Amino acid sequence: MVSKNYRFSEAESKPQENKTFWIPHELEHLIISKIFYRTPMISNMKYLITGGCGFIGSNLAAEVLRRGEELFVFDNLCRHGSSLNLEWLRTKGRFTFYPNDIRNLNDIETVIKDIKPDVVFHLAGQVAMTTSIANPRLDFEVNVLGTFNLLDSIKKYSPESIILYSSTNKVYGDLMQFSYEETESRYICREYPQGFDETITLDFHSPYGCSKGAADQYLLDYNRIFGLRTVVFRHSSMYGGNQHSTYDQGWVGWFIQKALEKKMGKEKEPFTISGNGKQVRDLLHCNDVVDLYFKGIEVIEHAKGKAFNVGGGIENSLSLLELFNLLEEILDVKLQYNQLNFRESDQLVFVANCSKANSVFKWSAGVNKNEGIIDSINWAKSIV
Ligand SMILES: NC(=O)c1ccc[n+]([C@@H]2O[C@H](COP(=O)([O-])OP(=O)(O)OC[C@H]3O[C@@H](n4cnc5c(N)ncnc54)[C@H](O)[C@@H]3O)[C@@H](O)[C@H]2O)c1
Repeated sequence: MVSKNYRFSEAESKPQENKTFWIPHELEHLIISKIFYRTPMISNMKYLITGGCGFIGSNLAAEVLRRGEELFVFDNLCRHGSSLNLEWLRTKGRFTFYPNDIRNLNDIETVIKDIKPDVVFHLAGQVAMTTSIANPRLDFEVNVLGTFNLLDSIKKYSPESIILYSSTNKVYGDLMQFSYEETESRYICREYPQGFDETITLDFHSPYGCSKGAADQYLLDYNRIFGLRTVVFRHSSMYGGNQHSTYDQGWVGWFIQKALEKKMGKEKEPFTISGNGKQVRDLLHCNDVVDLYFKGIEVIEHAKGKAFNVGGGIENSLSLLELFNLLEEILDVKLQYNQLNFRESDQLVFVANCSKANSVFKWSAGVNKNEGIIDSINWAKSIV
C-alpha cells in the first residue's frame, strides 16, 4: 500500500500534522485540494493524468508542468518503475498526487467531482498481453471497469472535460486476413505496405485486445450518446525516456536494456525473443506522443468522437532483427538470443497509416528512429 505522504510535498502536508479533529476519508481530497489551491497558480487549465507516473503519463505530466498549467496525477503505482517516475516528476514542479486505483469508483469519482479537470489524459491501464492471459479478470477490471468509472464520473460531474485515451493497435486482431512477404530481416504486408488505416475491421483478440477494445468503444460511444469530448489514439509501439520496460511490455526499451547489459558485461545469459524476430512495428518516440496529445486539445471540436491510428509510420518501422542490428552498430556489441514460439495473437506487422491524424491534428512524427534509439539508450544507461 502506498503511503499517503506521497500526496504532498513536505510543506503542503504541514497543515495535516496540526489537525486536531478526525477527517472522514471521503472528504480528504476536498480539504487537501483547498490547501493546495492557496498556492498562487499561473495557469488556467487543469490537467488530470490517470497513469501519470507511467511511461507516457509521466512524459505528458512533465510537459503540463513545463507549460505552467495545473497538474493532478492519479496512479496506484502498481507498475514497476512508476515510483521512480514519480520521484523524477517531483523534480519538475508542483502537482497534486492521488495514489488511488481507477478500479474503485469512489476514488476516481471523488477526484473528478472535486477538481473538474479541463483535460483528462487517460493512460492508467493493465498494459501487458501476457498478464491479460494469466489474469483476465484483473485486465478487465483495470481497463474496462476503470475506464467506465472514469467516463461515468465525467458524465456526472464534469461533462465539459476533454478526454484523450491511449488505445492500441491490438483492437485490429492478429491481421492474418492479409498476406505477408518474408524478407531477410522483416515481414511486409502485401495489401498495406504503407501501413494500416482506421478502416481495418475491429477484431478483438486476447483479453488485452478485448479490454482495450471495449474501453476504446466506450470512449467513442460516450461522445455519440452523451456528447462527451472524447478522442481515441490507437498506439502501436512507443519508446523513450521513463519507459521501465519488462520482458512482457515495452520491447524496444527491453532490448536496449539487454544490449546495454551486454556492453557493460552484466548479462547473465542470452536473452529470448518470441518468434523469428521479423515482426515489424513502427516506433513512436514519447516526445512525438506528447506533441500529439497537446495538438489533440487544440482541435478537440474537430477530433472528438473519433479514433486515430498513430505511430512513427513506415519510415520509422523496425523488426526485432533490424533493431538488434542497429543496437550492435551503435553500441559495438554482438547480441546473443534464443528463439521461443510466437506470442499469442502477435501481429506479423503493425505499421500505422497516420493520414487521418496528420490531417486532423496537423501532426506527424518528428523523431527519426535512429536519433530516438540513441536518446533511449542514453536514458536507459541510468537504470541498467
Ligand atoms: N507503451 C506502448 O507502447 C503502448 C502501446 C499501445 C497502447 N499503450 C497504452 O498506453 C497507456 C500508457 O502506456 P504506458 O506504456 O505509459 O504504460 P505504463 O505501464 O508505463 O503506465 C500505466 C500507469 O498506470 C498505472 N496503473 C495501472 N493500473 C492502475 C490502476 N488500477 N489504477 C491507477 N493507476 C494504475 C501504473 O502504475 C502505471 O504508472 C496504457 O493504457 C497502454 O495500454 C501503450
